[in-house]
Formats: sequence, C-alpha cells, structure tokens
Amino acid sequence: MAFDSFGDWVRGLERAGELRRVRQPVATELEITALADAEMKSPGGGKALLIEHPTIAGVRSPFPVAINTLGSWKRMALALGADSVDAVAAELGALMHAKPPTGIRDAIHLLGQALELRHARPRSVREGACQEVVHRLDPVPTATTPWPAAPDILRGETTPEYPPTLLDLPILKCWPLDGGRFVTLPCVVTRDPDTGERNVGMYRIQIYDRQTTGVHWQLQKVAARHGRRYYETGRRMPVAIFLGGDPAYPFAATAPLPDGIDEFLLAGYLRKKSVDLVKCLTVDLEVPADADFVIEGYVDPVEPLRMEGPFGDHTGFYTLPEPYPVFHVTAVTHRRDAVYPATIVGVPPMEDFYIGGASVKVFLPIFRMNFPEIVDIALPAEGVFHNLVVVSIRKTYPMQAYKIMHGLWGMGQMMFTKYLVVVDDDVDVHDTSAVLFRLCSNTDPQRDTLLTRGPADVLDHATPEVGYGGKMGIDATRKLSGEGFKRPWPPLIRMDPAVREKMAKLFDL
Ligand SMILES: Cc1cc2nc3c(=O)[nH]c(=O)nc-3n(C[C@H](O)[C@H](O)[C@H](O)COP(=O)(O)O)c2cc1C
Repeated sequence: MAFDSFGDWVRGLERAGELRRVRQPVATELEITALADAEMKSPGGGKALLIEHPTIAGVRSPFPVAINTLGSWKRMALALGADSVDAVAAELGALMHAKPPTGIRDAIHLLGQALELRHARPRSVREGACQEVVHRLDPVPTATTPWPAAPDILRGETTPEYPPTLLDLPILKCWPLDGGRFVTLPCVVTRDPDTGERNVGMYRIQIYDRQTTGVHWQLQKVAARHGRRYYETGRRMPVAIFLGGDPAYPFAATAPLPDGIDEFLLAGYLRKKSVDLVKCLTVDLEVPADADFVIEGYVDPVEPLRMEGPFGDHTGFYTLPEPYPVFHVTAVTHRRDAVYPATIVGVPPMEDFYIGGASVKVFLPIFRMNFPEIVDIALPAEGVFHNLVVVSIRKTYPMQAYKIMHGLWGMGQMMFTKYLVVVDDDVDVHDTSAVLFRLCSNTDPQRDTLLTRGPADVLDHATPEVGYGGKMGIDATRKLSGEGFKRPWPPLIRMDPAVREKMAKLFDL
C-alpha cells in the first residue's frame, strides 16, 4: 500500500491506533528525545509520536515532528503495506525463487530483475508536491522570524508559505553532548559519476549553519564511493536530501542493497506503486515527488573535510568528531502540509532496532539462496546491528558453522559483524536467553571460537583504528565426530509430550 506523504502515513498510524499526539510545545533541543526515548523503551516499541508544536530555541516551528513511526513490528509491517514483515520476506523470496541463482552475482542480478518485474521501475514526472514551496538559498532570511503555530495536518490544515532555511526546520539536537542539530532520517541521493547509477542511503546530516551541513556517509558506504570519484576528478558532487513521503523510502535507504541496485526499485516494489520522481531545481538529481522536504546542494571536492560530531549514536555511546565532507545547500523545498520525520538513536532498544530487524527479515531469502542451511538470523538489540549476529543453521557436515561465518563476513554490510554466533536449527535466534544457554553449554572456548580480522563499523569505538578491527565467530552448534569430537553428544532434556499435555490440561499450565 502506498502512502501519498508522511502526513498520510501519520494519519494511517492514527487510524491503526499506533499514534500518540503531543499537543503541548516540546523543544527540539533534547526534550523531544527525552519523550521519544521513553516511548521507544516501552514494551514493543510504544507508539509513534506526533509532536504538534515543536519549538526551536523557544520559537514554534510551523512543521510538526513525527517520530518513532517505524519503531515496532506492527508499524514496520504497516509501512511496508503488509500484515507482517515476514509476509514481505516470503513474497520477495517466492519472486526470487522463480529461477534459482547459481552464485552470489547471479543472486544480486536476480534481485534487481525481481524488483523490476513487479513494475517497480520509478517514473519521471514534471511536478511534485515536494516543490509546492520553493526557497532558493540566496538571499538568506533571518532565523528567528516567529512563524505561526503549526497546522493540524491530520485535519487537513496546511503550512503557510514562507522561505525556510535549515535553521527553521524542527531539526533535533538529540543528546546533551551532541555537536549540534542533526537530521536523523534523511534519504541522501547521489549518482556514480562514471555509470550514472543512483544511490539512496541514509546518512545523518549535521547542521553547521543555515546553508552548510556535514554529511556522514561512512567509509564503506555507496555515497562515499561516489564521493571518492568526485574528489579524484575535482568535479562538484550534486547531492539531494529528501525527508518524508512514503515510509518505504527511509526503509529502502537503510536497506543493505547491493551497490548498483536502485533503492527506488525496492521502494516501488514494496509500496506496489512506482515511485514518481521529479527533477530537483538546482542540481541534476531526482527525488520522490511526494517527499515532504527536499534539501538540494553539493559537496565541493576542493574544500577540506570538516569535523563532524560528536553525536549520540546507535552504539549507545557518542561518536567522537571525525572529518567528513561539507554539504552546501542551494535550495530547500517542501510540501505545504509537510511533516518533519525524525528518529533518535542511543542506548538500545530504539526505533532503529525494528528498521534494521525488518531489513534482516526481508533479505533472509537472499541469504538463504547462497546458504540454504540458514534457518534464521537475528541481530539482538543489545548488539546494535552488527556487534552481534546470531545465525541458526541446519547442520549436516563438519565445520559448516565456520563456512557460514566466513560467508557472512564476506557479504555486504555483514562484513561489520563483530561477534557471530552459529547455533542449531532448534534454537530460536530471537530468544537471546535461549541463545546464551546454547552458547554457554555447547562450546569449548578454545576449540569453538575463531578469531580473525576485517573491516569494522566506523562507529565502533573499541577497535584500535577506525574501520578496522577483530572479529570472533563462535560455533555453538552440536559437535560432530568429523569435527574431532570423540565423545557422545548428550540429548537435550525434554518432557514426554503426552505427559506434558496431560499435566497442562489437569493443572491449567
Ligand atoms: C536511523 C539510521 C541512521 C543511519 N545513519 C547513518 C550514517 O550517518 N552514516 C552511515 O554511513 N550509515 C548510516 N546508517 C546506515 C545506512 O543507512 C545503511 O548502512 C545503508 O544501507 C547505507 O546505504 P548504502 O549501502 O547505499 O550506502 C543509518 C541507519 C539508520 C537506520
């Protein structure tokens, strides 16, 4: 199911009983975080919040803020237009199984084909609601003009026309030691200058002033690869950042799609409607016509990198300042009824647990095409994405757990996995207690751990260098005689099912 705007999505959440409106003014500096953090920590991820009157330095913003809109399994499924995230995964898996791939390249190619097959190819359109209000960033208006109170977008009220700059948008300062305000749910569009291939990635944006920002595409991400080509050729790099529109967009921007597969194909496939793309006004890029905000601009390769951060990050710690490119804004455009989408990251669990978890579920069929023995994969919240990955396998031959470790460490963003635990197929990988039980009972630390090295998540503060670190694989599967295990493996204690059933009936267990 497609949503026409972020406001449309928010209205859908309200109809589904998944939204809490906050009518009192709440400051974009820290206060929205305090509120959202409590909500995200409540059972199952709490509700989405619509902050109707966010304030910036005490002044009301004309745009409401929606936060935690993807922060539960139910909301994630609603965003993808399905009853459950598993149903989305099953459909994509079935589509790809039309022709079994013979290798990883084949699987990636097939993924692209499968997405296109479903009429997911984006369409170019001449105009879009995202450009209803246009402001080219020259000259710059004052930041403190008191704008009228935020409209009630759920009742169809719209924002009055006026020229916004970055400083007028309700951009959050999330945590006390953050280096400033950060756009936390931005979809960043770039192009490979050699092939023209488009990429949409989610990379946070730090506001430096009304017209310049940092852009935090990490070393191993696709936009950073595009950026390196522009730095090599010295040409200005066009960048378009959009916010809002259909919630499938931020999901697609965070999904670990192989480099070269257009995220708009995935978004179109998920929403069962092609993404309408409109040309930006000041850069040669296209953005979804139904987006809520678009920030257009460029990165200039002749300009030195600038320190970005600190930022209270996914890891639960602050990421310390590191040099990143500077983004110059040439235009800000928006819908009249724009809703500003935000999230916060920090000590888990947070909204990103569900976004990342949905990615793993949706891409599980693709993992399985290369590793048919994989039953399930979990990234427990405590492991904040890649610090801890648990995989269950149907083990049939010696050292199979090690094959899976090496295979996953070599697959896309799975390369960041710090601890990789392999368990047997009868373990529910989403039950961390069950996993710890097998890990402790089924392993001999000296025999069953594999220490190696590889690329690390640049956010990992414990590695000796940025982007380089150690990895540990733990084989917590039942050991086979072919693995040098000469003793008999004991059976797991389980009650006779008939006796259990009898007792359950008798004592209402
Ligand atoms: C809320 C959120 C914020 C993120 N922020 C960043 C970021 O600042 N920098 C980054 O490189 N990746 C960030 N990511 C992860 C990327 O979006 C993710 O790795 C994505 O697949 C990158 O796209 P790419 O493979 O096209 O580069 C974030 C993910 C989420 C869910």
